Amino acid sequence: MSKAPQERAFESLTDKISRERGVSCGSYKDKCLKRRIAVRMRARGVHTYEDYAAILDRDAHEYQELLDALTINVTKFFRNVETWNALRPYLDALARSRPSLRVWSAGCASGEEPYTIAVLLAEAGAQGLIDATDVDRLSLERTRQAKYPDAAFTEMPANLRHRYFRDGQPVEPVRELFERQAQERLFQVFVDALAPGGVLLLGKVETLFGPARERLTLVDPRERIYTKPA
Ligand SMILES: C[S@@+](CC[C@H](N)C(=O)[O-])C[C@H]1O[C@@H](n2cnc3c(N)ncnc32)[C@H](O)[C@@H]1O
Repeated sequence: MSKAPQERAFESLTDKISRERGVSCGSYKDKCLKRRIAVRMRARGVHTYEDYAAILDRDAHEYQELLDALTINVTKFFRNVETWNALRPYLDALARSRPSLRVWSAGCASGEEPYTIAVLLAEAGAQGLIDATDVDRLSLERTRQAKYPDAAFTEMPANLRHRYFRDGQPVEPVRELFERQAQERLFQVFVDALAPGGVLLLGKVETLFGPARERLTLVDPRERIYTKPA
C-alpha cells in the first residue's frame, strides 16, 4: 500500500533537514519529531510540511529556530558517573603509553562532557587536547562561556569539583586541555580520526551504526565503549 501524501511530505521534509543541516532525523522517534516540527509550524502559521519546507528555504533564522527545537541538550558533568568510571582504565592506559592524547567530544552540548574529560585527563596526569563539537550553535556558545550553575555538578564527585572548578568555572589547567571547537562530522569521520588501539566512548544512549560499526570492536556493550584494532 502506498504511503499517505502527508507521510511522504513529512519524510521529504526530514530528509531535507538531514541532508542540508546534518541533523540525522532518523535517530528520533517520528512522534517526537512531528511534535517538535508542529511547534515551529504553528509559530509560523503554516499547516503543511511543504509550506514549512518553503519557509526553511528562504528563512535561515527559522532554520536555526527549528534546529534549536530539534536538538536535545541534556547534559551534566560526569553524567552517568559509572560510564566515566568504566572509561578511566582506558584513559589511564593511554596516558601511560602516549606522550599526548587527542580527544573528541562529539555532541558536546554546553561543554560539561568535554570538561569532564579534561578533569579525567588531568587526574590521569595526561597531556593532550580535546575537540568539542556540536550542531547546536547555542550550545557551543555556552561551551565557550564555560560558566556553570550548581545543577550541572550534581553527579560530579565533590572532591573533583573542588579541585578543578572555582565559582562554577573550570580552573586553568583544565581549560588548557580544551580549546578547540568546530562542527560535528559523521561516525565515519570519528573512526578515521581514531588511532589504531584508540577508544571511542558513546555512552548508554547512542549506538554506532553504518560502515563505521564494522571497523571498531565493541568492548563494553553497556557503556558502548569501542576500540579500534591496532
Ligand atoms: C543529549 S546531548 C548530550 C551531551 C553530552 N554528550 C552528554 O552526554 O552529556 C546531545 C547533543 O548532541 C548534539 N547533536 C545531535 N545531533 C547532532 C549532529 N548530527 N551533529 C552534531 N551534534 C549533534 C545536540 O545538539 C546535543 O547538544
